[in-house]
Amino acid sequence: MMHFVDVCALQDIPNGKHRAFVIEGVSILIFRINNEVHALENRCTHLDFPLQGGRQIGSTIVCRKHGARFDICTGKAVVGPAVDPVRRFEARIHHGRVEVQPGKTVVRHLFRKAI
Ligand code: FES
Repeated sequence: MMHFVDVCALQDIPNGKHRAFVIEGVSILIFRINNEVHALENRCTHLDFPLQGGRQIGSTIVCRKHGARFDICTGKAVVGPAVDPVRRFEARIHHGRVEVQPGKTVVRHLFRKAI
């Protein structure tokens, strides 16, 4: 059965920012956009560079390596060179705490991009 893992207090993530956590062995970025949270794997699907520290522009994050941009809400690559979506996880706010379902990938890689 899938379970939510307590990650941090909502106030630990400033609005419009993200923080990285290792949750059950997976590096996951938690993004806060107003009073919503979203969780993506901390890995660009272009060449596996960490997305942590990338510039957040609205509801997108830019990879620092080659500039691919991903939709934080869906994980979809919206600007290349990345094509595949980033894995996305269920995330929620529960009593002022951020919780993630690390075992439940919302969007899966259907195929790997040839390098
Ligand atoms: S590794 Fe992210 S755009 Fe190339």
